[in-house]
Amino acid sequence: MTPPRIYKNYIDGEWVESASGQAFENVNPAHRGELLGLFQKSDSRDVENAVAAAKQAYPSWRLMPAPKRGEILYRAARLLLERKETFAEQMTREMGKILDETRGDVQEAIDMTFYMAGEGRRQFGQTTPSELQSKFCLTVRSPIGICGLITPWNFPMAIPSWKIMPALICGNTVVIKPATDTPLSAYNLVEVLEEAGIPRGVVNYVAGSGGSVGTPLMNHRDVRVVSFTGSTAVGREVSQSVVASFKHVCLEMGGKNVMIVMDDANLDLAVDGALWGSFGTTGQRCTATSRIVVHKKVYHDFIGKFVDRARALRVGDGLDPSVQMGPLINEGQLRTVEEYVVIGKQEAAHLLSGGGRLTGGAYDEGFFYAPTIFGDCAPTMRIVQEEIFGPVVAVIPADSLDQAIEIGNSVVYGLSSSIYTRNVNHAFRAMRDMETGIVYVNAPTIGAETHLPFGGTKQTGNGHREASTAALDFYSEWKSIYVDFSDKLQRAQID
Ligand code: UN1
Repeated sequence: MTPPRIYKNYIDGEWVESASGQAFENVNPAHRGELLGLFQKSDSRDVENAVAAAKQAYPSWRLMPAPKRGEILYRAARLLLERKETFAEQMTREMGKILDETRGDVQEAIDMTFYMAGEGRRQFGQTTPSELQSKFCLTVRSPIGICGLITPWNFPMAIPSWKIMPALICGNTVVIKPATDTPLSAYNLVEVLEEAGIPRGVVNYVAGSGGSVGTPLMNHRDVRVVSFTGSTAVGREVSQSVVASFKHVCLEMGGKNVMIVMDDANLDLAVDGALWGSFGTTGQRCTATSRIVVHKKVYHDFIGKFVDRARALRVGDGLDPSVQMGPLINEGQLRTVEEYVVIGKQEAAHLLSGGGRLTGGAYDEGFFYAPTIFGDCAPTMRIVQEEIFGPVVAVIPADSLDQAIEIGNSVVYGLSSSIYTRNVNHAFRAMRDMETGIVYVNAPTIGAETHLPFGGTKQTGNGHREASTAALDFYSEWKSIYVDFSDKLQRAQID
């Protein structure tokens, strides 16, 4: 047997072992016996080195013209495109989602990298008249400094790219801590950046746990920007621990996303959307459809079709092209799902399909759970209110659009929502009244594109957005510049 490959950290342009000299395993959630490699069990000493490297690299990276920074990103995007299939296959092995979806994840990183490369020639500011004669006013974006980036396992390459690329194009340097369940995809991304010619110290990669790497990284005095994607509970801790130092913090957290199906909807289309939104990525997206509010007039028809289709979904190893849903990421996530299904039953929700771990044969090698639908749910049930992050969806009957919107908004989260209707008035009311950062019409709650703002309201976020030019707003600060060419003192608001 060949020994497992050892993957190192990337600090100051070198691939290095962690200070502890210890490593952790990256295993395939579809076949627990399959080891993808060993990654560095880093701690605050490695964080210290990575931040020092990022600090040293910052002055010259900041001054490199943004179009030149963009050229490096273009090269990186092309390399990602060339290696898309390999990276997707490795991602399915480390994360579990099916190949179509991991191709999509790599594609999202490609899109973001090309998009931000283009921003190297844009980053438009404003020129605007002055109140005073012979005075010129303009605004420019300035980089902020060192960014600490903490990323989740469900989009192992896309989400690192959402943070790294806008940070870099604005002229910041970064230290990324990938999720311990999926360090390989972020590693691949960093390796591509190295090959594309990123100068040493500009991008640093430190693998390890949240406690040993994430905490010292976000608390480091030289880190000015923290971007975190993960649970609302951890996001709250991140927020609290950096508040005193006034770091810039972007938090992308939980969701409990609703799909509304009206009585005038194309029901087959709604069922297609419900399946994809609820069980795509095994329900492990912050944008996953986890509640479906269905108009009573079509409730039974919808449920009948939806349950039949969910039961027929093929669950298994995501590398098998006939498989439609992969495993959960790990034992802990499986337990969470099991606990919520018990809660759902106790709450007297009607279990219509699934509701158990899949066992026997190859299923015993991984963390497989059946696509699960609860019907006749009440809006106040815990399974309707709390994020589960698994293949479990709650269906709730409603009498009217008003009631559906009210139920939709009755959770602490506000990431994504959707409405299926053929009535333009209904669609526009949902667009106006849903309290979410993203609204879909006749499409499920998943599927955001990289050039539109991504993020949510209420306890999903803290007011920032990722992707689009909104990401530039987070990774830069506006500088307002006044140039007086009158050769005399001119006093604003006075002369
Ligand atoms: C996430 O769920 O964490 O919109 C990100 C989507 C994807 C990104 C999801 N493009 O579902």
